[in-house]
Amino acid sequence: MYTPEQEQKLLEETQHFLRETPPKNSLQEAGNTIDQLRRIIGYHDYRYYIASEPVISDYDYDRLYKLLGSIENEYPELVDPDSPTQRIPQGLTKEFPTVEHIVPMLSLDNSYNEEDLREFDRKVREAAGKQQVEYCVEPKFDGAGISLVYNKGKLVRGASRGDGVAGEEITNNLKVLRTIPFSVNLQGYNLATLELRGEVMIPKAFFVKMNEERIKEGLAALANPRNSAAGALRMQDAAQVAKRGLIAFIYHISYATDANGMSLIPSKLVTHSGNIALLHKMGFKTPHSLMKVCKGIDEVIHYCHEWQEKRDEYDFELDGLVVKVNDLSLQEKLGFTSHHPRWAMAFKFKARQGSTKLIDVHFQVGRTGAVTPVAKLAPVEIGGVSVSSASMFNEDFILEKDVRIGDMVLVERAGDVIPYIVKPVREARTGSEKIISFPAVCPSCESELVKPEGEVARRCVNINCPAQVVERLKHFISKDAMDIEGFGGANVQRFFDLNLLDSIPGIYKMDYAGIEGLKGFGSKSVEKLKKGIEESRQQPLHRLIFGLGIRYVGQATARTLASEIRCLNDLEEWDEEKLSSLQDIGQKVAASIFEFFHTPENLEIIRSLKELGVETCKPEDAEKPQEGEFHDLTFVFTGSLERFTRNEAKAMVEERGGKVSSSVSNRVNYLVAGAEAGSKLDKAQKLETIRILSEDEFLKMI
Ligand code: IVH
Repeated sequence: MYTPEQEQKLLEETQHFLRETPPKNSLQEAGNTIDQLRRIIGYHDYRYYIASEPVISDYDYDRLYKLLGSIENEYPELVDPDSPTQRIPQGLTKEFPTVEHIVPMLSLDNSYNEEDLREFDRKVREAAGKQQVEYCVEPKFDGAGISLVYNKGKLVRGASRGDGVAGEEITNNLKVLRTIPFSVNLQGYNLATLELRGEVMIPKAFFVKMNEERIKEGLAALANPRNSAAGALRMQDAAQVAKRGLIAFIYHISYATDANGMSLIPSKLVTHSGNIALLHKMGFKTPHSLMKVCKGIDEVIHYCHEWQEKRDEYDFELDGLVVKVNDLSLQEKLGFTSHHPRWAMAFKFKARQGSTKLIDVHFQVGRTGAVTPVAKLAPVEIGGVSVSSASMFNEDFILEKDVRIGDMVLVERAGDVIPYIVKPVREARTGSEKIISFPAVCPSCESELVKPEGEVARRCVNINCPAQVVERLKHFISKDAMDIEGFGGANVQRFFDLNLLDSIPGIYKMDYAGIEGLKGFGSKSVEKLKKGIEESRQQPLHRLIFGLGIRYVGQATARTLASEIRCLNDLEEWDEEKLSSLQDIGQKVAASIFEFFHTPENLEIIRSLKELGVETCKPEDAEKPQEGEFHDLTFVFTGSLERFTRNEAKAMVEERGGKVSSSVSNRVNYLVAGAEAGSKLDKAQKLETIRILSEDEFLKMI
């Protein structure tokens, strides 16, 4: 946690480093600069990962990070294991030794209804000899449990839960997570050893995206965020762990001693809510903003019901709430059973698994030709939603689980994640179930499928396969690519089926007369579509590159490529070596880009797009990436502005490389609220991820 004064100073220093070459002419100067940069980067990690309110663009963050790395390279004697550049250790961790937790990591007792909670409260009150007990209610994170040990403020060990008594030492992998500080400082407590508990999670949206990418690349889809987080923590290559979007929430201090070896619990650390506030202050991501201190069990029950309704709105998977006695001396008095603490109770949300019959399996062809099986199910209600299809991932999954048509299957729906089959219920087999045979030919164009070595997906390699063409078109127009307003995936399929659209360049020579009059297409929607298509001609180059659907080229790689070229055609001249010299582009990606720009059909698409007026070059003055401090940040201005006009505000943001939007959405980073701000302010407050600024705060930022 930082005071406003500290923040202001760090921001000034940030701007300074972004503008000027730092002093590093002597070892001492370099040492000072390195210290300063580490502090600044630590602060921006905090803004991004803990407070979820970044104040600089990713681009500027990368510049600071690279600057630090380059000075450390020049002065290797100044490299310190605590530097943010050392988060991803080189080399592989071959083995994860078993380590014993200081305090065993127990389970929680579960409750499913009001009565269970009242019974828990009755026992607690009886032990406390009180009429009413104060509880904390906080989310029960559905991820992978971890423990962290800090010695004199330094992170010395990270471990998985294991069997509760001992887990695997995974310090190197946990160090990758920027939500885990390397060192913590707690003045006034004289801390010696600190053992913390928490949960490593993958944000739902990140998980969905990551799986989409994996499927496109022919890799096995991951079942759910929980298993993926647990799996990631055991990976040998920390660089791969870093790609899983892992976030650690810390929710418990299990052990804390001072320099004399005396326990600080419950003498100095007296309440759970106080501990959470303290952990937050130390720079951990904690449940503090979602936690409620409740006066008695009625309040607890009310809060539990409230949460049950809104669990899907939260960015992370929760499987319930945890009710904890707030007073740590009462916790001590209540103690533990061999299985769980007597001072806590989990309130589990309704299960989101159900069983139903697998009626059939359809095979879907993706944009890159990967064929994936989709289960058609007898509709079943799971967690309030009717589910009639589910992912079956790939052929290996079907074989491994031995799923058959006609089987009763267990289906899980985890938040926004597409429902998936967990396993068949073998006990319910009648003998009439049919083995699923994977097609040998493409279900769309009937060309023979191939299974490249090292991939789990069978693939259709016919570039003109109708299903692939449709998927490529859908990708091209999608939000993350050319973002064509007024167009949607269903219409792509429709226009394709009606022979109104058969290629990417076809979008820019659409027969609007042929569309007008189609069901649902009045003159207004045609105008909207026309306008959306028209405007997309000017989309920035990185969007076009991403939209072309080059295998392995995600949004980040598309941005990297766009920042290195002026025109798309420049890439025709690049060989694999030059491509793989770029940040984050390895051999495999370089080979794919090279192949794309040496395939005549693709070059023909680019030529046609150019002819049809699609911008394939960056404007002259944008040869370098935008270096404005607001690069990648979107602002909304609302209410009546007194310090500047809307146009002035827009100019101020755009001058710094940012964007101004008229509506509030997840993509917005800041909302500047003038007097009498109304619904936009309300919406921004609800979205939580948007930072709300007054006019003065905005001016200060500038
Ligand atoms: S407290 C001594 N708080 O759920 C008890 N656990 O099913 C310490 N979990 O083993 C646990 N969110 O891994 C606690 N807010 C939370 C939690 C939480 C998730 C996990 C934890 C525990 C498991 C039991």
